[in-house]
Amino acid sequence: MTGSVLLNAPASRTSEDTGIFCARAPQDVAHSHFLALEGMRREAIVEILDEAVRYRTMLRSGQVSDELRGMAVCLAFFEDSTRTRVSFELAAQRLGAMPVTLFPAGSSMSKGETLLDTLTTVVSMHVDLVVVRHKSPGAAAYLARHLDAGVINAGDGAHEHPTQGLLDLLTLREAWRGRFESRRIAIIGDLAHSRVARSAIHGLRALGASVTVAGPRTLMPEGIEALGCTVANTIEDAMRGADGVMALRIQRERTEQSLIPSAGEYARRWGVTAERVALMKPEAVVMHPGPFNRDVEIASDVVDGARSLIWRQVENGAAVRCAVLARCARSRRPERNPWTLDIAEEVAT
Ligand code: NCD
Repeated sequence: MTGSVLLNAPASRTSEDTGIFCARAPQDVAHSHFLALEGMRREAIVEILDEAVRYRTMLRSGQVSDELRGMAVCLAFFEDSTRTRVSFELAAQRLGAMPVTLFPAGSSMSKGETLLDTLTTVVSMHVDLVVVRHKSPGAAAYLARHLDAGVINAGDGAHEHPTQGLLDLLTLREAWRGRFESRRIAIIGDLAHSRVARSAIHGLRALGASVTVAGPRTLMPEGIEALGCTVANTIEDAMRGADGVMALRIQRERTEQSLIPSAGEYARRWGVTAERVALMKPEAVVMHPGPFNRDVEIASDVVDGARSLIWRQVENGAAVRCAVLARCARSRRPERNPWTLDIAEEVAT
């Protein structure tokens, strides 16, 4: 086994810390930040999922809303992203906000400016919400403490990816017909570096499902059971009788040395193949957060197979991000658009 799960916890901790990764004030849906699924109450999660379903109906019908009209949302992605960044940008636009993208390579950070100074600069231009992805665990929580803006965590190192966790829960809630109790999912692969797995485990445990994890010993953090999951020695043991499987990409960008022998060897021992899918319950589902490497962590025919919910996850991602942006925006600016009056008064005096 590698390292400790604590290694993936945010470095700075506060006196409000309540759990293994909890480095922030306990979260409530009414807050203008959205930082982690750890510590979230079941009711709060369900409320956001229900809201996401309503936004999905809006998205499917091609409608837009003006809920966030007049608000600016900065997308600050310091790590690569397709699904998360595009869906946040689309969600902001569909809700009538003004999304602005900060490209780290083309920003003043390349001239030595700190993360906080760069984002304080952006927020000084009256940006209301900052969606941030960064390689350091705790980056989003740190910014939430220091910026005068709502902060949404779009992935902080190997710590959490809470909107991914929500979209996974929404996808499973529908596949499992609303029932999480007595359901079990297998999460396979690079558990050591996966923020997706951490958020999924916290969310699934909050809703009552059980989680079995399996992967190479070099990619399995010591003490992961503390998150409330069971560790299996083989992928077959993890998947047998499960209600679903989630395959994870190997996060090569987070390790200096190679922790697996070769892609072929990995696929042979840990790949989610059709034969292994057949070990699960007949109606069990297959998920992957993407980006996926066909025929490495997941067989190409499984990606495109009847049990795969991979594209449904992507669709749900856009809906969940609408719900999260709207929640944070409401907390941030409960009364919308009072400025017309203010401007008139200022001109008159
Ligand atoms: C994941 C991420 O970036 O954490 N992808 C995603 O957001 N859909 C998983 C990964 O990169 O493997």
